[in-house]
Amino acid sequence: MSAQILDGKGTAQAIRAEIKEDVDRFVAETNVQPTLAVILVGEDPASQVYVRNKESACVKAGMRSLMYRLPATTSNDELVKLVEKLNRDETVHGVLVQLPLPKGLDEKRILDLIDPRKDVDAFHPENVGLISQGRPRFLPCTPYGIQQLLIRYKIETAGKRVVVIGRSDIVGKPMALLMLQKGLGGDATVTVCHSRTTNLPEIAREADILIAAIGKAEFVTADMVKPGAVVVDVGMNRVEREIVNENGETEIVSKLVGDVAFDEVKEVASWITPVPGGVGPLTVTMLLNNTLKGARLQVQGR
Ligand code: GUN
Repeated sequence: MSAQILDGKGTAQAIRAEIKEDVDRFVAETNVQPTLAVILVGEDPASQVYVRNKESACVKAGMRSLMYRLPATTSNDELVKLVEKLNRDETVHGVLVQLPLPKGLDEKRILDLIDPRKDVDAFHPENVGLISQGRPRFLPCTPYGIQQLLIRYKIETAGKRVVVIGRSDIVGKPMALLMLQKGLGGDATVTVCHSRTTNLPEIAREADILIAAIGKAEFVTADMVKPGAVVVDVGMNRVEREIVNENGETEIVSKLVGDVAFDEVKEVASWITPVPGGVGPLTVTMLLNNTLKGARLQVQGR
């Protein structure tokens, strides 16, 4: 039997409509318009698409978006000055530096400089520490979106075996922390697998909920999935595929695929996220949520 689809796109639309209502109410009450500043350095094509999506989602939700597009030749000092300026600016409630930064720029130094109260990515050590202690200020956008998706589909996590494949600071590690927290969408028994894990397929097969965030196209195959498991695919990999077109000629086309071999895994799983239309739209949605939260925190003077 084929798995049911976890519709990230539809869920993201529903959450965005709720956020827009909250933003409208917040603006009416405070006369403050939640504002996100996004810094993009260089010309990375994928980053340009992500940043454009963030900007348009902000505006649609009734927030203000400030875009800073800087050349790849920007120096560390120039970037530091811009982040410091945005930290001081009381009309800015969220500051996001799009990753990856071009070579030569000191990613850690720049990210650590963002005011933790404006750190809508939740990358700052203070915010990571608060999450780890179970008293979060901001939650990182992709793991937070995945947790919301599971909650809204009433997929039980308490007592379940969750396996996360990937140990990145952006997804794998914070995802594991969120599933481990006490309360709704948490209380799971969590294992994190990575490139040095031995017997990874065996461990993956024990998962009730399998979250693939390893950045390798179609890495998770059907034999790595327990029948009836819930499979969440965080991957966005561009691959070139040979297809036969309508004239019978072979063509190379570029295609977006996840970290999960969707066609075969959907025959084993009970629920599965598609790529595209799964986790991606939720990430931007939780960024909107965090920007509104940043505005609330600053209005409350905390
Ligand atoms: N690049 C890819 N994902 C992300 C993200 O979640 N935040 C930032 N700042 N950059 C990214």
